Amino acid sequence: MERFEGKTAVVTGAASGLGRALAGRCVEAKMRVVLADVEVEPLKKAEEALLERGGDVLAVETDVRKLDSIENLHAKAIEAYGNVHVLFNNAGVASGGALWEQTPAEWDWALGVNLWGFAHAVRTFIPGMIAHGEEGHVVNTCSIGALIPMPFGGAYNVAKAGVLALSETLFLELKIADARIGVSVLCPGLMSTNILESSRNWPEELGPRPPDKRDPAEFEALREMMAAGMAPGAVTEGVFNAIRADQLYVLTHPEFDAMIRERMEAILDRRNPALPGM
Ligand SMILES: NC(=O)c1ccc[n+]([C@@H]2O[C@H](COP(=O)([O-])OP(=O)(O)OC[C@H]3O[C@@H](n4cnc5c(N)ncnc54)[C@H](O)[C@@H]3O)[C@@H](O)[C@H]2O)c1
Repeated sequence: MERFEGKTAVVTGAASGLGRALAGRCVEAKMRVVLADVEVEPLKKAEEALLERGGDVLAVETDVRKLDSIENLHAKAIEAYGNVHVLFNNAGVASGGALWEQTPAEWDWALGVNLWGFAHAVRTFIPGMIAHGEEGHVVNTCSIGALIPMPFGGAYNVAKAGVLALSETLFLELKIADARIGVSVLCPGLMSTNILESSRNWPEELGPRPPDKRDPAEFEALREMMAAGMAPGAVTEGVFNAIRADQLYVLTHPEFDAMIRERMEAILDRRNPALPGM
C-alpha cells in the first residue's frame, strides 16, 4: 500500500504511547483516523490534540476485549468514513510475575486485551476490507517478548506469541485469498510509554486487581530502563515504511537480533534456552 492520503485508519490504544504516536503519524499522512481506547479522558484529549492539528479524526470509546465493543467501533468507522484501509491493532496491557502465580482474572485480562482484542478485530474488520477491494493493511503491535524467552512477564508473552502466530497466519491467508491487504507485525523492544501503569485499566468486573507479584527492585529497574527506552514517535516511520513495502516482520531494536538468532538456533539444534544474561 503506497498512498495514504484520504484513506481511513483505525488505531486501538490510541490515547497513549505508541497508539497515540501512530494516530499522529496517520494525521501527518492526511489519513482520516478513528481513535479507539478504553480510557475516556485521555482519548478525548488525544482527539482534541489531533483536531487542533487539522486532523479528520473521530474518537470511539472501545474495550477491545469485547466483541460487541469492536463491532460498535467498526460500525462507527464505516458510518463516519465509509471504508477502513489500515487497521492498527495496538491496545495492550503489561502483566508480570511467575506463570504459576497468575490468577484466572489476570489471565483473563492479559489475554483479553493482548490476544482476544486482535482476534475480535480481525473477525470484525477484515471481511469488509476484503470486500471493498481497495488496498489495505493490518499492523499488529506485538513485542520482542514474542521472539525471545522473557521470564516473569505473566500472560503477556503468551498473548504476544499468539499475536505473532496470528499475524503470520493472516499474512499467508490474505495472500492465498488474493486480497489486497498486507500484514505487518511490529515487535518493539522497550519504548517510553505508560505501559507499566497498565493497571489503571484493570476492569472492575474482574474483581479487585491482585497485587503485583514482581520483585519491587526489579520493577524499579525496569521502570528506569523503560523511561530511557525508544520514543514511540521514533517507531512510526518504520511502521509506515513496512506498510509501503508490504513487510511482515518489523523489528525496531537491532540490539536484540543476536538473542533472536540464538533462540531460533536453539530450537533447530534442539537445545534448551540459556538463562537471561548468561
Ligand atoms: N512500551 C513498550 O516498551 C512496549 C514494548 C513492546 C510492545 N509494546 C506494545 O505496544 C502497544 C502499545 O502500548 P504502549 O507501550 O503504548 O502502552 P500505553 O499504556 O502507553 O498505551 C496502551 C493503550 O492501550 C489502551 N488500552 C488498554 N486496555 C484497553 C482495552 N481493553 N481496550 C482498548 N484500549 C485499551 C490504554 O488505555 C492505552 O491508551 C501494546 O500492544 C504493547 O504491548 C510496548
